[in-house]
Amino acid sequence: MTNPYEFDVLIIGSGAAGLSLALHLSRVNCHIAILSKAKTKDGATFHAQGGIAAVMHNKDSVADHVADTINVGAGLCDPNVVNRVVTQGPDAVKWLIEQGVEFTQEVKQNNYHLTREGGHSHRRVIHAQDATGEAVETTLIDLATSLKNITFFEDHSLVDLITTTDKECVGAYIYDSQNDKVELFSAKITVLATGGASRVYQYSTNPAVASGDGIAAGWRAGCKVCNLEFNQFHPTCLYHPAAGSFLISESMRGEGAHLILPNGQRFMPKFDERAELAPRDVVARAIDHEMKRLGVRNVLLDISYKNPTFIRRCFPTIYQNCLKYNFDITKEPIPVVPAAHYTCGGLNVDINARTNITNLYAIGEVSHTGMHGANRLASNSLLECLVFAESASKDIITNLPRLRISKSLKPWDESWVTDSYEEIFVLHNWEEIRSFMWDYVGIVRSNKRLARASHRIKLLKQEIQAYYGDFKVTKGLLELRNLIVVADLIVRSAMRRKESRGLHYTLDYPQLKPGKARNTIIRGSL
Ligand code: FAD
Ligand code: SIN
Repeated sequence: MTNPYEFDVLIIGSGAAGLSLALHLSRVNCHIAILSKAKTKDGATFHAQGGIAAVMHNKDSVADHVADTINVGAGLCDPNVVNRVVTQGPDAVKWLIEQGVEFTQEVKQNNYHLTREGGHSHRRVIHAQDATGEAVETTLIDLATSLKNITFFEDHSLVDLITTTDKECVGAYIYDSQNDKVELFSAKITVLATGGASRVYQYSTNPAVASGDGIAAGWRAGCKVCNLEFNQFHPTCLYHPAAGSFLISESMRGEGAHLILPNGQRFMPKFDERAELAPRDVVARAIDHEMKRLGVRNVLLDISYKNPTFIRRCFPTIYQNCLKYNFDITKEPIPVVPAAHYTCGGLNVDINARTNITNLYAIGEVSHTGMHGANRLASNSLLECLVFAESASKDIITNLPRLRISKSLKPWDESWVTDSYEEIFVLHNWEEIRSFMWDYVGIVRSNKRLARASHRIKLLKQEIQAYYGDFKVTKGLLELRNLIVVADLIVRSAMRRKESRGLHYTLDYPQLKPGKARNTIIRGSL
């Protein structure tokens, strides 16, 4: 019987990266599948607030955007990559506008409004009010779902990539959680667009899908991973027991919001001359320091001294969401804490988003391109998704004609496993991993903390592997299996870096060491 799941290009992930790749590819005659672990829109992209950094103002320049990116990246950005992405930024934004994304305009002039965020020397963040990701994601979904050569699969989770002995990727095993079965998807080209791994931490701004599945599966298939010690913590997540992981955009500080202590005192000026607009690592560490010094659970963010009409116009989503928790941002400061936000490292790719496995690409947050170095400049992520999706599409279009679907792949075999009888195993271990990662591998690290985390990971890895070998897969078990791999890779990468640089800060080596401006590469497990 022929396999019903045969595609020219299999794109795993339906965020900004996966969708824009599919739209670029749809220009040529090819059959594309886009998979989502949950519903199509349920990734980080939908939640993006601040916007997309691009040189759009005549007083700004590519050289300045490049310099800001490299400066924040603390010595580990690849200047060629930064140059290319920044140079293509305005065209990437223009492409989104052509697809129908409606960005916020200046009130009086006929220009796009640009906001400002930490580490940027100019106003250069184009946005759709404070819900940029929603505007981008819904526009791209609407377009892609109208095209005949793109097929969407919701509630389909990557289990493992399928590779040949020649290190070539020929498809993937995919778990259909609606029908509780694993299907074989064959493809000429497979693209990981699965987003980041910030849910490996107890407190995160990210949606539930961000469990690092693509990083773990890529690594298991033999991909090199790079710089996983650089985990970005966003300084301002709303602190309220019922709010889950609601982000308060950095653009609020860009428009003048102050960080204050419970006694009303501003504290950022004593840490950095750029105060609230210092890069994220500096602000998150300062908040962490003040919270630990004072023994408090949060600090406060205050924009209430600004005109209420201005606040409601700029931040309608944040205003409404805070009201749900009885905070009126036009009248009072709101409680905020740092939370895990972005995975700077990932699967190592070249300038066309190719991994070291033939016919396997990685785009978006799952990848490491060299754009962000040791710390990402705000609003450079969506930009990277768009630019790399475009360059990957060109490379894929060139390669597709000479590739064939592999017809000899074996279907998934689960004859030796039984139904799991204890789902609590998955829940318990999820919680344990996220909790020790937060406590020991968070904003401030040390040799001892990393060693404690490493010890727990060793035990859990064995337990999880044994459980995985005995029982049928579930979505939770697949995520747990990936989460422990990602936790392990983060800790191993962090242990190798004997200095503090960008987002990796350790009490044992508190200084940046110029001689250690090297990427941390861990080879895949093949
Ligand atoms: P995502 O949008 O996260 O999509 C991942 C996709 O992969 C999803 O469809 C998911 O279902 C799928 N997936 C995951 N695992 C599997 C699996 N095992 N099997 C099948 N499918 C899978 N960046 C900016 O530049 N500007 C901003 O203003 C901004 N604001 C942000 C605000 C928030 C709250 C957050 C969380 C992030 C923000 N970021 C921002 C970062 C940015 O949104 C993300 O880095 C970017 O959207 C990632 O896009 P992506 O396409 O790589 O992945
Ligand atoms: C924000 O709006 O603060 C998030 C921007 C980003 O992560 O780039």
